[in-house]
Amino acid sequence: MPKDFRIIVLISGRGSNLKSLIAHQESFSIAGVLSNKPEAAGLAIARAAGVPCYPFNRADYPDLAAMKSTILRQAQALNPDLLVLAGFMQILESEFINAFPGKIINIHPSLLPAFPGIDTHARAIAAKEKIHGCTVHVVDAGVDTGPIIAQASCECREGEEVDALAARVLSLEHRLLPWVVTNIARGNITIGKDGIVTFSPLAREEASMKNFSIPD
Ligand code: GRF
Repeated sequence: MPKDFRIIVLISGRGSNLKSLIAHQESFSIAGVLSNKPEAAGLAIARAAGVPCYPFNRADYPDLAAMKSTILRQAQALNPDLLVLAGFMQILESEFINAFPGKIINIHPSLLPAFPGIDTHARAIAAKEKIHGCTVHVVDAGVDTGPIIAQASCECREGEEVDALAARVLSLEHRLLPWVVTNIARGNITIGKDGIVTFSPLAREEASMKNFSIPD
């Protein structure tokens, strides 16, 4: 299949989800990695794979708004079919979101709408959740509030430490995110400009085989 579906990935840190996307470029290609942290470890992963990197350093800009405008202009210049936020720790303004209607998705380490924001694993343990997991959703103007595309879950274990639970959820993330991106690239999952997500029968069948949940 020609890889004419081009994504860009926005990161701020470790880049393990980026690494998983790099390894799954059968139906899509990564046209660039943008980072709001020039020291992000994920940039080294991208460079090693020959993916063009666009690091942005807050110190080079008079204020945060100026840096965010430059990130927006760079994203527009790359003209991607999809923008994937993978550990991108910066709120996107509505100007950015409106520039790419229905084209921005995010991976979040909880079963949204439970635990938006940070420290999701510690909060899930503190709340004595029985089931935890991760969500890929469409990005809207809120924090982790956009329409859910797909979720992967695992059972919480009695007495499990935060790091152990985080590691188990992260391995689910590494399966879920490439599956969603691949199926958007293949047209099996579509996101309207209004953010409404639809699934082909094939996407529904695959999700069920892989134990991913998708909305009815
Ligand atoms: C992941 O847990 C992701 O769900 C969250 O930030 C973390 C990023 O990890 N949004 P990595 O940089 O992909 O390793």
